Parts: sequence; C-alpha cells; structure tokens
Amino acid sequence: MSRDVEDHRIHNNSQNLPFGEVVERHLSRRQILQGGLGLAALSMMGGFGLGGSNGAWAQNKTPLALAFESIKGSHTDAVVVPPGYRAQVLIPWGTPLNARASAWQKDLAMTPEQQANSVGMHHDGMHAFPLDAESGSRRFLLALNNEYIDQDALWAPQGGPTQPDGVRPADEVRTEINAHGVTIVEIRRQDDGGWTHVVDSPYNRRITTATPIMLAGPVAGSDYVRTRYSIDGTRTRGTNNNCANGYTPWGTYLTCEENWPEVFVNTGERFSDDARLGLPTDRGRYGWETAAGDGEQEDEFSRFDVTPRVGEASEDYRNEARTFGYVVEIDPYTQAMAVKRTALGRFRHEGCWPGPVRAGEPLTFYTGHDSRNEYIYKFVSAAKWDPADAPRPGNEADRLAIGGKYLDEGTLYAARFDEDGRGEWLPLTPDAKTPSGQTLAAALGLAADDTAGIIIHTCDAADLMGATPMDRPEWSSVDPVSGEVYFTLTNNSKRTAADTEASFTNDGTAIDAGGVGYATAPANVANPRANNENGHIIRWREQPDNRFAWEIFVFGSDAGAGDNRSGLTEDNQFASPDGLWYDARGEGQGILWFQTDNSDNAVAEYTNDQLLAVVPGALGQQNASGAGSVIDAANQSHLKRFAVGPNGCEVTGIFATPDRTALFINIQHPGNWPADGDALGQDATRATNGQVRPRAATVAIWKEDGGQVGL
Ligand code: FEO
Ligand code: CA
Ligand code: CA
Repeated sequence: MSRDVEDHRIHNNSQNLPFGEVVERHLSRRQILQGGLGLAALSMMGGFGLGGSNGAWAQNKTPLALAFESIKGSHTDAVVVPPGYRAQVLIPWGTPLNARASAWQKDLAMTPEQQANSVGMHHDGMHAFPLDAESGSRRFLLALNNEYIDQDALWAPQGGPTQPDGVRPADEVRTEINAHGVTIVEIRRQDDGGWTHVVDSPYNRRITTATPIMLAGPVAGSDYVRTRYSIDGTRTRGTNNNCANGYTPWGTYLTCEENWPEVFVNTGERFSDDARLGLPTDRGRYGWETAAGDGEQEDEFSRFDVTPRVGEASEDYRNEARTFGYVVEIDPYTQAMAVKRTALGRFRHEGCWPGPVRAGEPLTFYTGHDSRNEYIYKFVSAAKWDPADAPRPGNEADRLAIGGKYLDEGTLYAARFDEDGRGEWLPLTPDAKTPSGQTLAAALGLAADDTAGIIIHTCDAADLMGATPMDRPEWSSVDPVSGEVYFTLTNNSKRTAADTEASFTNDGTAIDAGGVGYATAPANVANPRANNENGHIIRWREQPDNRFAWEIFVFGSDAGAGDNRSGLTEDNQFASPDGLWYDARGEGQGILWFQTDNSDNAVAEYTNDQLLAVVPGALGQQNASGAGSVIDAANQSHLKRFAVGPNGCEVTGIFATPDRTALFINIQHPGNWPADGDALGQDATRATNGQVRPRAATVAIWKEDGGQVGL
C-alpha cells in the first residue's frame, strides 16, 4: 500500500523485553542442520519428501533454469517485461461487471450504483478458481482484493473529494465504500492469447465495506461484538482494506483485513485493543463518519464512529471495530454470505496462506501482522484433512460449511525465532503458560475460558507469550513438497541497533491494557539489521513439537550499499519485498516470485517497483551463516528481475494459470497509467503520453511462443 495511507505510528508498546536483545550471533546454519539438531530431526519429517541426503534444503532434481535475462530497472509510465513476452491490461478499476454499470469513460462520474457494479479500486491480493475442463487455464473466476482508494482519481471529474462544512456527502461516502472490498469476476482466454472478463457472468459479484458478513469462530456471538446492527454479535457489515489473500484446499477464497483501523474513529474512552491497533482519535481516514445523520440508512455511516455512548453495547457501535481485523472466507462460486473466521486471530492481517495439505493431518495457515515489530502467526485446524472435501466435478458441497469445519476450531500460534536457528510456535490459548508462569488468560486479565478475549487481544497475547517482533510481515508462500515456508519482511524503520533498549512509548499515548507491544525493538537474529529500510525474506521448515528451523533467504539492498549482505547487483537489486508466491512446477520444482512495494531509497532511484524470480532448488546447498543469507555473492545470479511496473505503482498480487502459460500480477496506485484512458484491454507495455486518470489494474503476461512463463 502506498505510504500515503500507511499508518506510520507504532502501536506495539511492550512492557517486557523483546526476544533477542542480544548481539547477533554468527551461527552456522549448517551446524544446526547437519549437527545434532539437523538431519536426525529432519529425517523424522518424512512427509516433507526430501529425496536427497546431501543437505536439508537440497533438492535431488535437476533444477529449473529461468530462461530470460534479467531486465534493467526503469522509470516509465509502462509495464516492462522481457523480450518475447506480452503484457495486457485486464479489469482496471471501474470496469463494468454487469449491465447495471455504464461503460467506462475517462471522465466518468463515479456513483454508488456504478461503483457497486464495477471492479473496485487498488487491486492487491488475488487468486483464480477454475471453471473449465483444463482446470482453469482458459476460464476461471478471479477473486481480487480492492485494498483502498485513490480519492483524486476516484473524484477526478469533480476535482477531488468534497466535505462542505466538514461533512462528507452521503453518496461520496457510499461510492468510496463500494470501491473497497473484493471483486469476483469471470475471466476467459481469447483465441489470440489475450484475456477478457465476462460482462454479466452470474458469478460476477462485489463484496464491499457495506456488504453483510457473518462472524464465525470464537468471537462470534460473544459480548465483544454486540452492536446495534447485530445485537447477538453474529454479523457485521463489510470487509475493509483487503490486502493480501489466501485460499483453501476446499475451493474458497480468503481475504485479509489489513489497515482497517483507520476508517474508524473513537473520540472517547478507548478499548486497549483500539489503542494497540491504532484506531484514530480525531477523524477516520476518509471522514466517512461525518456523513452520519438524517440521510443515512441503518446507521451506515454512524457505525464508523465507535465512541462509546451511554447504555448497553447493543445500543451503539462501540464494538464495531471489533468486527474487523480478520481473515474472511468467500465462496467465489456462489453468492453465499462471506464469513469472518475469527479463530485465525485479530490484527492487521496481511494475508493467509495454506501449508502442505496431507490426508489425515491438520491443516495449517500462515498469516502475518503487517506493522513494525509485530508477529508471524500460524493456525492449525482441529479437524484433520479429509480429501473428500477437496473440490471436484459434481461436488455441490457447501464450501463455507467445510470452511467452518477447518477454520472455526483450532489453535493459533505466534512465532518465536531463536538464536540457534530454530524457533517455536507459541500457543495463544487461555491456558497457555507465559514465560512468567501465569496462564495467558490471567496475564491478559481475562476469564479462564475466554478464547474470544484472547482473539480480540491477539497481539497482546502474542507479546505476553514471548513472540519475536518482526520487520513488518507481509506475504508468505509454501513449497508444497519440501514444506519450506517463505515470508517477506518488508522493512522496519523502528528496528534499532542490537545493543539498544526496546522502547515502549507510542507518540506519548499510554497503553492501559496488558501493557504490551513494542514501539522500537532492537535487532535480533531473525531481523538483524537496524533501520531495516530494504527488508528481507526469511524461510523455515516445520519440525516436531511445534518447533521449526529457519534461515534468511535474501536481504534486500541496493547494489552499492555497504550492507549488501546478499551480494545483489544492478541486475536484481530490490527493496521492500511484499507480494510472494512459490510457483510449484512439478515434483520438487518451483519458482519463487516476489514483488516490491518500495519508495524513497537508492533502489527506488534505480527502478520502479518490480517482480523478481528465483529457483530455490538451483541454489544448491544452503550457505547462510552468521549475517549471511541463502542468496549470496556466489549464487545471486539466479535471482532475476522479470518485470517492472509503471511510475508511482506498487506491484502486488500474483498467480498463474495451472498450465503456467499466463502469469497475472496487479499494478496498484500507478501515477499515470494505463496509456489509453478509455480502453479496458490494452497493451500494458505502452507508455502513457500526457496525463491520464490512473487506474489500478491486473496485468496478464504470457509468452509469445505460448510456452510456460519464466522457462
Ligand atoms: Fe497492504 Fe502490508 O500491504
Ligand atoms: Ca507493503
Ligand atoms: Ca502488501
């Protein structure tokens, strides 16, 4: 997301010491993986399918070879891809989904009705769900997050948003609400290799910040979420600031609520979780609450002001913000009401990615809290995977009922990364014992069985258990064969030197709750760079007994930096990794793609945001040790730049068709792109001439020879 709307405050104000308030230890990963803890432990994990005995991370296949040359960095109003590739704009913001929306024009005046029937704004995470016999390589449903809005572009014909006398007009607010959320749209391949969306497909759908949504899991029906809209605490309206995503093995989409706190305001007494998560105290991000009054329907705007009023919680919206901050499950194949799966925790969720799926074993999902010095989480289902729940032709199962089976009961864990290259998953259950010997429920001041309370205060709970504050966890992806989990840690301006004290201040605001959270945290082994402006990617492999073994995969850097720990060159220098996808290409083979959301540094001076690719299996024996990473000066030529976005944008969201002949990415918040202000489908590589009304869009990329992308 653009730094224009990122929350730059720190909400993590811990009263206890962070893990790793120690100098970085120069520990050899090889000692861990080949020593006493290493292969013996890993060999117990037979399910991970490692064929070789020559090293824990090694593959026994001939590795794939990326068959393109790294492209140069660029600063243009165009998408740049390697020679031999085509790139096409698909479903830009405002594309009509059905006949109720007028055709897009560059000077179209957006209305609530028009926006509710058109593609939302600021494309982010996405996933495809097959509709055809070739498993979706020619026809699929695209589920797309619309993270936030560019008010200047949205209101360009009228010269920008308005607020006469400090009050936002109701229809402006309704339009903005309808530009957020999720878009479901049918996509088809055309005979010329290009792609188009299907207007009036019965699947096309918008879920916005106004759409009724069910609550499920521990928080549903609890006192924490009773509102005037839902007295029994089982429903809410809308999903908001949907950043990254996930998907399930039973064929549903997961969309994740990230920077949602800022659309609310609380001018009175705040809950501790309001403060921890950063709810504004003066005005919501877009002032939606100012439209409250006689013209509103069912408190559609009042609900954004969560200031407690007199009387019961069921008489106002003091709890409205507690119905946000979740992973939301959507069945893309039906119009069924979406469900917030509260068991997966409540925070600024970036995304939610499934681990390996094995019959008879619990399912795992990885999810991160994208704020400075916040945590990485894992949810493990109570139910064991039944392959009969997988989508298959003729299976008319209730996919959201299956979702309830796996996502409403289970255990949420937070990650602690240890100095020895291992780590531990810390259970966030009421009876879990904190390092001080209390139960977690007692430490949080909750009743002994208050699982809902643990979820409402997820980040406080993680802190009390001793989780490791990370450099802004963004996307994750899992190699389904090896089980290796990759996670981007995008940057952290509040990471201090290793020998400093943690800071607990938050812009002078006292936190009254469990008193937890870090404003600044000293460098630790998993986040070893102070003022980490370039970010890094970490990876780990699960081990028995809630343990894991981890190492740093690559450090972002500009090529000329003194602290260029992965030996990057002009061909692959990058910073602020964000989107990431392990693209499995057969047994034990795959390409790791990652995308950047960078600005204001030496890498940004060299290039716009970008998409890079590397084949982990080609890197051979891991060689991370001490301050090093898997990618280093000896092997970094395997890391290549595949695409560069237009000026002003972030590159995010990624998947490919099952046959890998087309790759899809999103261009979010471009400054002056796509080139043709009126066209829907157009050449994404054509540079804009003059100034256009910018539109976030999906970009389809394919090889002119019809082969697999990247190879
Ligand atoms: Fe919406 Fe953390 O990126
Ligand atoms: Ca980001
Ligand atoms: Ca992101």
